[in-house]
Amino acid sequence: MNNSSFYYKDSELYCEDVPVSKIAEEVGTPFYCYSATHLEDRFKAYDSTFGSRSHLVCFAVKSNSNLAVLNLLGQLGAGADIVSGGELFRAIQAGIPPERIVYSGVGKTEAEMAYAIQQGILMFNVESMDELHLIEQTAGLLGKKAGISIRVNPDVDANTHPYISTGLKKNKFGLSMSRAMEAYKAAAASEWLNVTGVSFHIGSQILETGPFLHAFSKVTRLIEDLEGSGINLACLDLGGGLGITYHEEDAPEPDDYVSAILEKAGDLGQTIVIEPGRSICGNAGILVTKLLYTKSNSLKNFYIVDAAMNDLGRPSLYNAFHAIQPVSQKDEEARIKADVVGPICETGDFLARDRDLPVMSQGDLMAVMSAGAYGFTMSSNYNSRPRVAEVMVKDNRFETVRERETYPDLIRGEKIPDWMEPGS
Ligand code: LLP
Repeated sequence: MNNSSFYYKDSELYCEDVPVSKIAEEVGTPFYCYSATHLEDRFKAYDSTFGSRSHLVCFAVKSNSNLAVLNLLGQLGAGADIVSGGELFRAIQAGIPPERIVYSGVGKTEAEMAYAIQQGILMFNVESMDELHLIEQTAGLLGKKAGISIRVNPDVDANTHPYISTGLKKNKFGLSMSRAMEAYKAAAASEWLNVTGVSFHIGSQILETGPFLHAFSKVTRLIEDLEGSGINLACLDLGGGLGITYHEEDAPEPDDYVSAILEKAGDLGQTIVIEPGRSICGNAGILVTKLLYTKSNSLKNFYIVDAAMNDLGRPSLYNAFHAIQPVSQKDEEARIKADVVGPICETGDFLARDRDLPVMSQGDLMAVMSAGAYGFTMSSNYNSRPRVAEVMVKDNRFETVRERETYPDLIRGEKIPDWMEPGS
């Protein structure tokens, strides 16, 4: 077990004070189950370490965008890091004040910009000169100033999976340090832009503080150069990316990370913004699935379960490891090596491969651990599978915070044109 919100009591897996099997009985399987206390604790570990230092913890909505999750964090003082109009809508619906929202992403559309400007977000993290010009134009049309920060690409290696590394020159993100200066000068000259900050984000699932500090140093130099040109920034946004323990990784704790940043920040006057996602919600969630069938051949054992790659894509996409635990532990210790696979018609549909697991039988429940980040948010309807339910637990209470989709949900918005009628 890798955290205290999910634990065994009398051989039964609990989330906080609720047996996971009890939720399964009520909600059916598969479902995501989140611990409110774990979310709160992780957020507070970030927030409190800043102490009286001016700061803003903007939760990365892409990691878990459930309204109840966003609302809970928002109540504790979290802002939001968003990357689309849809995420802005969610953050606002969840009650997160716009002045605590930062907008990242390389491909913001004009409509999304207009929506964000009208709402009055804190700043756009701008990724190209073209984007800067469009924000200025949109703000001018609306007659409302837009806050901007330039997202710089510090060209720092985060030593993480290549698909989720973002701070290298070869990645599509941010502007180089030299172009950034040019962008700031253009922005400072505009009557429709408020030069608010500077930002970077070097990648995700980063397991050491070194790369963050390295990038921070590079950006500090830029801040000094800007000050030399009379451009003063209010915010310094260090992005997200702190990793978590999925298996046996040693991940820095949020307070270690914040302490390291604060030490580096010295007497810099800026408000420090961070955008953590996974390190707040990753180990706050599990995916609960039921064993449908077992089968074996001369090479392999298969556990065929009712959750699949469309529900949790990380194993198929990144070959990511998620621990798998029985919801009810058996007395006998018999174990077996098995692939845990879903019902989808693809060989890539697996949750675990060659995994050492207890011998289980049809109908047994399993928990796929560390599934609270990039789990539900990356799920799809592939194979016309309704997306699963999400459940929030707090102490001895639990509630479905997103209903399981139904078959009619699957075809909402689809239509067969009249002219397709035979004979028309
Ligand atoms: N800020 C920006 C600008 C980002 O692009 C991201 C993540 C974050 C913050 C939050 O990063 P975190 O603290 O969660 O590492 N789907 C992948 C992860 C993709 C991360 C994309 N950007 C996965 O399942 O591992």
